[in-house]
Amino acid sequence: MAYYRTPHDVTTLPAWQALTEHRKAMQDFSMREAFNEDPQRFNEFTLSSSGLFLDYSKNLINAETRELLVNLANEVGLKEAIKAQYDGEPVNSSENRPALHTALRRPVGDKLMVNGTNVMPEVHKVLNQITDLVGRIHDGLWRGYTEKPITDVVNIGIGGSFLGPELVSEALLSYAQKGVRCHYLANIDGTELHELTAKLRAETTLFIVSSKTFSTLETLKNATAARAWYLAQGGSEAELYRHFIAVSSNNAAAVAFGIREENIFPMWDWVGGRYSLWSAIGLPIALAIGMSNFKELLSGAYTMDQHFQNASFEQNMPVLLGLLGVWYGNFWGAQSHAILPYDHYLRNITKHLQQLDMESNGKSVRQDGVPVKTETGPVIWGGVGCNGQHAYHQLLHQGTQLIPADFIVPIVSFNPVSDHHQWLYANCLSQSQALMLGKTREEAEAELRAKGMPEEEVQRVAPHKVIPGNRPSNTIVCERISPRRLGALVAMYEHKVFVQSVIWGTNAFDQWGVELGKELGKGVYSRLVGSEETPAEDASTQGLINYFRGRHRG
Ligand code: F6P
Repeated sequence: MAYYRTPHDVTTLPAWQALTEHRKAMQDFSMREAFNEDPQRFNEFTLSSSGLFLDYSKNLINAETRELLVNLANEVGLKEAIKAQYDGEPVNSSENRPALHTALRRPVGDKLMVNGTNVMPEVHKVLNQITDLVGRIHDGLWRGYTEKPITDVVNIGIGGSFLGPELVSEALLSYAQKGVRCHYLANIDGTELHELTAKLRAETTLFIVSSKTFSTLETLKNATAARAWYLAQGGSEAELYRHFIAVSSNNAAAVAFGIREENIFPMWDWVGGRYSLWSAIGLPIALAIGMSNFKELLSGAYTMDQHFQNASFEQNMPVLLGLLGVWYGNFWGAQSHAILPYDHYLRNITKHLQQLDMESNGKSVRQDGVPVKTETGPVIWGGVGCNGQHAYHQLLHQGTQLIPADFIVPIVSFNPVSDHHQWLYANCLSQSQALMLGKTREEAEAELRAKGMPEEEVQRVAPHKVIPGNRPSNTIVCERISPRRLGALVAMYEHKVFVQSVIWGTNAFDQWGVELGKELGKGVYSRLVGSEETPAEDASTQGLINYFRGRHRG
């Protein structure tokens, strides 16, 4: 395992021990006081790159914390790990594969040898194929079985074959090309298919069956149901090729489904599902926003890739965000991390980052199979502001858990209404400010007295009004959500996740835990439909099967 310094027990490294000591010294650290004492704190803990501005000054850190965290990154060999990942070494050790999403963003003419083959010509060949398809659909040259142009594209896919494309095509709605509407069909729940097809006409609809493995149950069931719907609407088997295309690395299975070979867009085993929006899995994005905007997205991500590889760790956004996550998760006991976009178009970023982070860092053994001795990935949750302020922010402010948060906010709205955007921005800032400042007992009491409340009442109510404060957050600001900046933002989080996996010595690119549920699902299904007579492995599952069988109609 030469590609980076794993296996390692990170807890035995000198930097980890120094951080353990430092954590004790930081027990009474007050952000309020730190800001009062150091007028340069904001400048000291902010940086810009790739069209993004990061303020991480509202964290439980000082310059020494940063230095110790950077030492940790150095001691685990992060620099070499980044190089290994970019160079195509098998950083996904349990599957013996590289993880080369960065190759998908590299410019034409670059060379990257993987197992003796330069993969870059293949990457750009597929981009050209996408360009061709997008052009034909946008120009009305790709026709359905009644010779009408395509008006609706349905992406059938789940997980990474859905969340990234959905996030980006919705976030960049302002860049949407006229004439083609994109839809997503992910869940096996028939209601989703029912509601969607009710809005569509088969003769003008193109389905993209988007599945790296072409073996995912939900996707294959939906693709089969969509084909049945298309035939029932008047389409024929002979014209199926006009309405069904695929993105997959499993050519044989896609052909067996009935998709013509020339309509299968390849992807490679060296791209993980949750890192795949930059590949042909991004086809619905390119159809939604046009090819030149899709290339801008790639180029924004490439800029962040360069920053991640070349900037010093002290000035490196993904590295700092990753290290801050380690600081809170491993040294302050934080178990979750909130992602709070203040932008309606970014409302799906939390869902995408949930898969990206939790499927990547939800691990408990190291690359060498030895159990980790630390906590690993946090629960990622959150949602759009201001809505969250009127729902779950209460727990952020006064709950017993420490939950670090990322606020993401653009300066310019695509849809200005009166002074709404100023209020949105102000709310975003006031939330991170309230988390940091809190409200002391003295302040709470003074407020109540100022309202003329009797002293007895002041003493009764004041404890409820105390807000601990000192709660950490990052704020990520950009001018507005353009393809380029969004590319940089998503790539930044991809790299952050990688940084953490390198610290913990885990593999960010496999997901074996997901497989068990899939395997057991087959057994449960056969007992539900009666094709398996033996009882389920446990009485609870069998009881619930019986409950279903006794009541299910239809
Ligand atoms: O079930 C989880 C998962 O394996 C994800 O990692 C992946 O993004 C998703 O399924 C979809 O996989 P596929 O593209 O092969 O259908």
